[in-house]
Amino acid sequence: MITIAVANQKGGVAKTTTACAVAAGLAIRGHQTLLVDLDQQRNASTSFLTPEMIETTLADVLVGHNERKPIRDAIYQTHIEGLDIAPASIRLALIERTVAIEEQYRLKDALDSLAEYSFIIIDCPPSLGMTLTQALLAASHVLVPIAAQFYPLEGVVDLTETIKATMRPNPKLSVLGYLVTVFDSRNSICAQADAKIREMFGNDVFDTVIRSNVKLQTAPAYRKTIFEHAPSSHGSTDYDSLTDELLDRLQIRTPIRMVKND
Ligand SMILES: Nc1ncnc2c1ncn2[C@@H]1O[C@H](COP(=O)(O)OP(=O)(O)O)[C@@H](O)[C@H]1O
Ligand SMILES: [Mg+2]
Repeated sequence: MITIAVANQKGGVAKTTTACAVAAGLAIRGHQTLLVDLDQQRNASTSFLTPEMIETTLADVLVGHNERKPIRDAIYQTHIEGLDIAPASIRLALIERTVAIEEQYRLKDALDSLAEYSFIIIDCPPSLGMTLTQALLAASHVLVPIAAQFYPLEGVVDLTETIKATMRPNPKLSVLGYLVTVFDSRNSICAQADAKIREMFGNDVFDTVIRSNVKLQTAPAYRKTIFEHAPSSHGSTDYDSLTDELLDRLQIRTPIRMVKND
């Protein structure tokens, strides 16, 4: 099982957009995938589920002492074959109050009990707190989206320090890659930002750049993935290519799909 935390403590850098698109891209390629929404803002959850569909959330699994629920109770099928989601709740904020070491492993222990998924994609909150710690302790890889804007690397050093610190208790953790997002070729700031990011992280930066694309903003409102909402858009093409590049990096071949004859 490969568990990828999509993390950057800065908000608005396309963590959620990336987590949703990559999770869908992997499922479409035939990899059984679970999307874990660890952000109390619930944007990934509402991209796939309506509030009425949700009874149990990750907060019921991760927060509190007694009567915590098993993670299976908080897993819902999405309309994409092979893609399930564990939704968030505003009560996930309470994770930030945890102090005991063993509580920091709750997400890891819960996810370790799920053998059926090839991929777990964790959408992290925009902070460096205990919730991110839980994600990094549970993850095998981190994907760091960085928006191509003024001061793109602001805070990224603190994030890499946090990742390094988590490698002590979780030695298998590695950075899968840094991803340049919201790139607009007409804006010279974006080219400068891209250059800065590549200067800092070299080959760890994905070749794929996610271009600025309004369809990525509208898709969640229709509860559709970018691949369904606007299949020929830059957003769809770029996340398609990211999914392939990510599988290449992991040296994973896409399973051959069963061809249905009728
Ligand atoms: N490539 C892109 N082009 C245009 N808008 C984007 C792109 N990626 C993300 N966005 C938009 O930017 C906002 C922040 O993205 P989001 O994925 O929610 O970031 P985060 O999870 O890091 O806070 C959202 O409104 C999203 O639709
Ligand atoms: Mg988000």
